[in-house]
Amino acid sequence: MKDLINTLGLCSRILVLFFLPLVGFHSSFGQELNPLEGDPRAARVGGSIFRAQCATCHGADAMGIDSIDAPDLTQIFTRPGSSEQDVFQTIREGIPGSIMPPHAFPEAEIWMLVSYLRSVGVSGFTGQIQGDPDRGMFLFSENCETCHRMNGQGGSLGPNLSMIAAVRSEDAIINSIRDPSAIIGRQYKPVSVLAEGNVRFRGIIKSEDAFSIQVLGTNQVLRGFRKSTLQELVYEDQSVMTTFNESALNGRDLTDILSYLQSNL
Ligand code: HEC
Ligand code: HEC
Repeated sequence: MKDLINTLGLCSRILVLFFLPLVGFHSSFGQELNPLEGDPRAARVGGSIFRAQCATCHGADAMGIDSIDAPDLTQIFTRPGSSEQDVFQTIREGIPGSIMPPHAFPEAEIWMLVSYLRSVGVSGFTGQIQGDPDRGMFLFSENCETCHRMNGQGGSLGPNLSMIAAVRSEDAIINSIRDPSAIIGRQYKPVSVLAEGNVRFRGIIKSEDAFSIQVLGTNQVLRGFRKSTLQELVYEDQSVMTTFNESALNGRDLTDILSYLQSNL
């Protein structure tokens, strides 16, 4: 295994030599933009560097490993305002206070990693949804708005969906609605506590350390608890999001909701 990793490292280093002139030329303009942008070889070599250096934590498919809290890297470009330059910095400097290490790779290799992550990154809806966005808006306000914000309005138990059509595929959204517990976002881990006086409080974990836990309740009230005072602390595997099956929302309803999410209504 070690040998394999060394070999991969070596291969990528040799390949890097081919890119150096290109990188040298562009870096004189500053490094806001990936100098290897659009070069499919960069993403390919970046992929082998990734498998040798990053996959133990982030998974061979870059989708993250939950048990060590290493995030899904196919999602990083979907956040509003995220840039390739930020990802470059994170790879180079690591994340202090976490196990994400700094990497003293040559710049070209880091850009190749960025190219690779860009290539496996998800991007939004592929076409115009043929539905009724007005009806979708109504269904959304009836079923979703208590937990989700859209264009400045709605609850905050679930993620803001204003930009969702730009960052998730139609299928990913349908799966989230039909089976919310299949993939639960890192910031939305469900928990249930039994506090002093037999009071049960269920919600999502906002922050946690060895001694305390902050929970945003399903009633959207934020509460903090000292763990030593809790009678029970259960990490749940069912999302706090309601599951919407066919009888709750049929195919047409879903299409209309998708077309609302895609619209500027
Ligand atoms: C030892 C485990 C480990 C290794 C090796 C590792 N990472 Fe990470 N990485 C993490 C963890 C854990 C986090 C989340 C840290 C946090 O947010 O607290 C992270 C965060 C990141 C982020 C930021 C994600 C975000 O949501 O903004 C990027 C980008 C990243 N890693 C890329 C890489 C790349 C590329 C490599 C290989 C060169 C790598 N990591 C190697 C554990 C690791
Ligand atoms: C009771 C609160 C609640 C309701 C009601 C609710 N959601 Fe959610 N939703 C959540 C939470 C919490 C998450 C994040 C955890 C998860 O993924 O299960 C989530 C996640 C999602 C995601 C995934 C977002 C992402 O970043 O991938 C989508 C899409 C979504 N909801 C759409 C909807 C739609 C559409 C409706 C109405 C038909 C709805 N939700 C109703 C709480 C809710």
